[in-house]
Amino acid sequence: MTSPLRIALIGAGVMGRQHLQHLRQLPEAQLCAIADPGPQAGDFAAQCGVAHFAEYRRMLAEVRPEAVIVANPNALHVATALDCLAAGVPVLLEKPVGVHLDEVRELVAASRASGVPILVGHHRRHNPLIARARELIEAGALGRLTTVTALWQLRKPDSYYDIPWRREAGAGMLLTNLIHDLDLLRHLCGEVRQVQAFTSNGVRGFANEDSAAILLQFAGGALGSLTGSDAVAAPWSWELDSGENPDYPRQAEQPCYLLAGTAGALSIPQLKRWHYAEAGAGWHEPLLQVQEPCAAGEALRRQLQHFVEVARGQAAPLVSAEDAGRTLALVEAIRQAAESGRACAPQII
Ligand SMILES: NC(=O)c1ccc[n+]([C@@H]2O[C@H](COP(=O)([O-])OP(=O)(O)OC[C@H]3O[C@@H](n4cnc5c(N)ncnc54)[C@H](O)[C@@H]3O)[C@@H](O)[C@H]2O)c1
Repeated sequence: MTSPLRIALIGAGVMGRQHLQHLRQLPEAQLCAIADPGPQAGDFAAQCGVAHFAEYRRMLAEVRPEAVIVANPNALHVATALDCLAAGVPVLLEKPVGVHLDEVRELVAASRASGVPILVGHHRRHNPLIARARELIEAGALGRLTTVTALWQLRKPDSYYDIPWRREAGAGMLLTNLIHDLDLLRHLCGEVRQVQAFTSNGVRGFANEDSAAILLQFAGGALGSLTGSDAVAAPWSWELDSGENPDYPRQAEQPCYLLAGTAGALSIPQLKRWHYAEAGAGWHEPLLQVQEPCAAGEALRRQLQHFVEVARGQAAPLVSAEDAGRTLALVEAIRQAAESGRACAPQII
């Protein structure tokens, strides 16, 4: 029998600890060390029964983990992942893959040159209901995808912003949250040709945006909109609607993505599908509704299981650094469109 993969955690904050909850239940992997310079990290590592390092490079040299999960602040992602690649250690890198496209290009090149894989933590793609939605779209259940309506509207408690890096450049709602929705839209609807956007920081008043309205033109011809705000008392977001994370009280009836095509429509996460009984029918005929079977799964747990396979060379990453780089390029295009007032195309990675 193969022994459990020895995984170290770099960055034991909110997200790092969530990964550990799933890691503990995974027979094919085990935690071997924690690297985090924060004041609570030593005690936390002791509770987990593993060695603690304030400096991750020392951890890489002394513990020689077989894989690492990197969940430190966004601006450190690329530099940390590059050090892990240099040590020959496969990385599960939290999103965003980086904060600038140039650094992501360097990371993509380093991963290619070293042959050491990176899986980026766009974990929603691992949710079975997203896999099912993609299957339906690819099988033509919606006909020609024509319009896409995406919503990310909720309220973060004010205390969320007590952690300074979350208020600073390199964080922000677009890069921290809407990036997940944009990644799923790319995954489900294909690449985006160009965007137009408005952003506002009018509610919270921080340097970063608290609200955004984005128009998307997909390469396949579909047109879409994504409206987002983390400062509204509203129920429309993947977090509240999908039931993926029990920390968010669920609004099970509310959709966050509505996809419509010439032959049908789909609401996500409900996976309700609408269509007419006969091709060519229109608004005077009854629109039929089908409930597609599929339960929400533990996306983070499935992502970790996949990461073990990636680290062992048994699978290619579902979300590579290059793929995640395209999602980051889309975020950058949106930021540029909001600043310039013009339509912008995502850069090529
Ligand atoms: N996939 C998701 O849904 C999701 C959700 C939340 C956060 N995230 C991502 O996870 C990352 C962490 O976010 P968070 O909310 O857990 O933040 P956090 O502030 O709670 O945790 C960050 C941790 O990194 C540590 N750290 C700082 N510098 C470090 C260094 N040089 N080496 C090692 N550790 C260091 C901090 O001490 C802290 O413990 C971010 O990139 C964020 O975008 C992803």
